[in-house]
Amino acid sequence: MADVRLVRNAISFAGMILATISAVLFVVVFLADLFGWHTNPYLGIVFFLILPAFFIAGLLLIPLGAWLERKKRSRGKHPSDLRWPRFDLNDPTQRTAALIVAVLTMANVVIVSLAAYRGIEYMDSVQFCGQVCHGVMKPEFTAYQDGPHSRVTCVQCHIGPGASWFARSKLSGTRQVFAVSLNTFSRPIPSPVQNLRPAREVCEQCHWPEKFHGDKIQRVFEYAEDEANTESGTTLDVHVGGGSERLGIATGIHWHMNVANEIEYIATDDKRQVIPYVRLKDRFGNVREYTAEGVTPDQLAKGERRRMDCMDCHNRPSHPMAPTAEKAVNSAMAQGEIPKNLPYVRREAVKALKATYPTQAAADEGISRAMREFYRTQYQQVYMTRRQDVERAVTSAQNVYNRNVFPEMNVQFGTYPNNIGHMDFPGCFRCHDDNHKTKDGTKISQDCDTCHHIE
Ligand code: HEC
Ligand code: HEC
Ligand code: HEC
Ligand code: HEC
Ligand code: HEC
Repeated sequence: MADVRLVRNAISFAGMILATISAVLFVVVFLADLFGWHTNPYLGIVFFLILPAFFIAGLLLIPLGAWLERKKRSRGKHPSDLRWPRFDLNDPTQRTAALIVAVLTMANVVIVSLAAYRGIEYMDSVQFCGQVCHGVMKPEFTAYQDGPHSRVTCVQCHIGPGASWFARSKLSGTRQVFAVSLNTFSRPIPSPVQNLRPAREVCEQCHWPEKFHGDKIQRVFEYAEDEANTESGTTLDVHVGGGSERLGIATGIHWHMNVANEIEYIATDDKRQVIPYVRLKDRFGNVREYTAEGVTPDQLAKGERRRMDCMDCHNRPSHPMAPTAEKAVNSAMAQGEIPKNLPYVRREAVKALKATYPTQAAADEGISRAMREFYRTQYQQVYMTRRQDVERAVTSAQNVYNRNVFPEMNVQFGTYPNNIGHMDFPGCFRCHDDNHKTKDGTKISQDCDTCHHIE
């Protein structure tokens, strides 16, 4: 260290140049980022993950070069030369050298910590999760953007606070980066997520389970396949409930499922859709075991045992996708995106959406062609006078497709089951099917009014 001249060698020089260039670039981009000038998520990978690596490599090359140089110089000389260098601050050259080294080291520490901080922050951003591995996370990222949690970052649910989850996520993240680079990941990405953090540590950071929600009024619209797209509706008072005995209000789905009772189940398929065994421990400590007819102890032993939590019902809280083309078109019509009074629009939109397309781009074209063709040939008058409505119907149908179907990821309508409800997927009826019984014949009830009142 004493002899600054030791760094006058090719390796150290290369290190210095590498470190300086990456430090300058990094500081520039960091400032730009601080003032909000950069938006491309891919730049982030280069600037916040790769540049710092170059910077550190550069820094390491400097002492490496010096050390090799020292070895070279001492080769063949007297061993005493290999003693620790003598360091003398009275020598002006050495003093300057020490000062330079100290200042540069401090600057380097600042840069490396900034880089580490920004790199971690960047890896936790929605951009990184949702866009960098573009095609891979596209279904979830697209659905997420207009879900109820679009201001909650991916990592708030998928990783959550704490060092151990951070480390685990980085380990599995590294595996995922390999899977993406080698193109070995599965399409679609399987759900449920194994080892997702327990709901208590995720959802309950923001939602207090004992909060009383009362009834939620849910109005469901349907449209027929006739010329008038005849509308019909069902109104459900869903008894969401919740609360606690302490506060005096304790009823409904949340109270029974989440507050009063501890429920465990065994699922025998990997999507947790087949649940032949349920164990209930109520708040007085009474235990009840329900088994589905015909299941064998052997099947149960092979299944996955799990304590039921928020995500067993709310398994698509953030990236919901429509279960069927019909339902997706119904809600686009109910929201007025697809004009309700365009003849046969419900039937035609569903038909166009259900065709098979190799890519989203091909779907855009196919949907547009099919729907335009229908009105042009069958409803010339409408096609001439209400061109704008036809165009709006086409655009909305395309949006429905692009929001729910991702051919490149093998994601179709209904690929991911939603466990809230029971019409399109087993959902609540995985257990509430009157077929799960205790030894004394008690059933998990399918009585419609326990969960909602239909008007
Ligand atoms: C409000 C919490 C929440 C947020 C925010 C969230 N997720 Fe999820 N995510 C979940 C839950 C819950 C599951 C499914 C868990 C299960 O069934 O085991 C899931 C499943 C997934 C899956 C597995 C495949 C699937 O669709 O089921 C992927 C991939 C995924 N999320 C990506 C993302 C990305 C990318 C973001 C951010 C753009 C994000 N998630 C934001 C809660 C969330
Ligand atoms: C970082 C805070 C945060 C976390 C974590 C979080 N949520 Fe939420 N959640 C919210 C907010 C804020 C809203 C209200 C959004 C609105 O009203 O637009 C919300 C809304 C909801 C809704 C109502 C959706 C609707 O359509 O009205 C449900 C259900 C829900 N969250 C379930 C969950 C579940 C299940 C989890 C755990 C997987 C979870 N949340 C995790 C903040 C959070
Ligand atoms: C037995 C299934 C089940 C479990 C378990 C469950 N919920 Fe719900 N939750 C529902 C249903 C059903 C609704 C109403 C229907 C809907 O939102 O579409 C609901 C509604 C909600 C709402 C919206 C309330 C409103 O008035 O809009 C929030 C927030 C919520 N749940 C959070 C949670 C959290 C957090 C947990 C875990 C502590 C949880 N839920 C556990 C079934 C469940
Ligand atoms: C893993 C199995 C399982 C699933 C899935 C499930 N439940 Fe339940 N549910 C139970 C058990 C067990 C009980 C307790 C039955 C009892 O008290 O005898 C129960 C009780 C209830 C009760 C109270 C019933 C009463 O008689 O007072 C409501 C309400 C309820 N569940 C709603 C739902 C809703 C809504 C869903 C779907 C979003 C759902 N459950 C999904 C197992 C399940
Ligand atoms: C274990 C609880 C439970 C039971 C029992 C139950 N339901 Fe439901 N039902 C739900 C939930 C949860 C939803 C979804 C509500 C939402 O979307 O917010 C739902 C939704 C519905 C819908 C609207 C479907 C749609 O297209 O969105 C209808 C209709 C319905 N139920 C009818 C019935 C009838 C009829 C029975 C009696 C045979 C019944 N349900 C029993 C929990 C239950």
